[in-house]
Amino acid sequence: MRMRIGSMFTLQEPSQCSSSYFTALGADVQSFLSGRCALYACLLDCANASRPKLAYVPAYTCETVLSSYEKAGYALRFYDVDQAELKPIFKYEDLADVSVLNLCGYYGFSRYDKAFLEVCRQNGITIIQDTTHSLFSQDGHYPNADYYAGSVRKWLGIASGGVAVKRKESFSVEPLKADEEHLMGRYKAMEYQKLANKSGNDTYAEQASSIFWETEMRLRHMFDAFAGDEKSKTILNSLDPTHMIEKRRENYQTVLNALTPSPQCQPIFKSLDEATCPSHFTFYSEDRQRAQQQLERQSIKSTVYWPLPPMLTNKEQFPHALWIYDHVMSIQIDQRYSKEDMEYLGKALAGL
Ligand SMILES: Cc1ncc(COP(=O)(O)O)c(C=O)c1O
Repeated sequence: MRMRIGSMFTLQEPSQCSSSYFTALGADVQSFLSGRCALYACLLDCANASRPKLAYVPAYTCETVLSSYEKAGYALRFYDVDQAELKPIFKYEDLADVSVLNLCGYYGFSRYDKAFLEVCRQNGITIIQDTTHSLFSQDGHYPNADYYAGSVRKWLGIASGGVAVKRKESFSVEPLKADEEHLMGRYKAMEYQKLANKSGNDTYAEQASSIFWETEMRLRHMFDAFAGDEKSKTILNSLDPTHMIEKRRENYQTVLNALTPSPQCQPIFKSLDEATCPSHFTFYSEDRQRAQQQLERQSIKSTVYWPLPPMLTNKEQFPHALWIYDHVMSIQIDQRYSKEDMEYLGKALAGL
């Protein structure tokens, strides 16, 4: 049977094996309640060493990423991001007084200019890579970054899933105890999603979504360097991502093969290179609202990553990012979906 495309994950069972996938990423690897908690912990750790607290951050990003910087006391200087393959538009002249650079390989595809990063390094700028989208790509961790911070919960069913890595030394900050209310919300939402999948009853899916959003909105206000819970750590430390990576790559290619691009569906990454494990199928749409409604009628749920973050106050200076915010949309192509599901999706996209 074909699955409805686009829904919340249910809780993943940990395997019996032990895995060094995350622990091998650096000298100190710690688990946090969520991606933003992991990022915030990295920022607290490097804040002591940072000169002026000025961060060079992408104009196209998630509000929760920028919130971590603001909470850690950083002023923000933005760089624009090109529509073509979401390549950062770094400017050397912007680097004056910058102490931290935030890097991101969008949707699994790493397209940044490494020569620029090398200059940052030579100038003593701390490089923090937000690995949320690139966690499972072979080139998803820039080898000379100082920190990696990512969110595994975008990839599979896990309650916490924030991973922070200090590549060369140990963290100087101790994580706070996990927040129980947040965890309860996350586990409950996944349970309702499981009931929804089993029964086909939309009321359960609505409950799952409502609890998820209530929990998410609370996190936006109270996030801190909270540790992850034990169950989530067990999942992380037993995760063999091989099957997930293969399946996502296969699914991405199936959608690409079925697709004839049109103004309503222009894939941002038109081919899949060997290194990439895609997080979503992401494309631009001339009339996004119409595309989303048309897909919804075919039981395909799409998401917009991200709404314009309120921190981008001088937005007219970033015309590329602004255009992206207005046209980008994403669909899940993860390990839950079959080839048949993806052919159906490809045909639906071709018909937009
Ligand atoms: C690129 C990116 N980084 C970090 C985060 C924060 O992750 P979390 O929601 O687990 O705190 C998000 C959240 O959507 C994100 O999209």
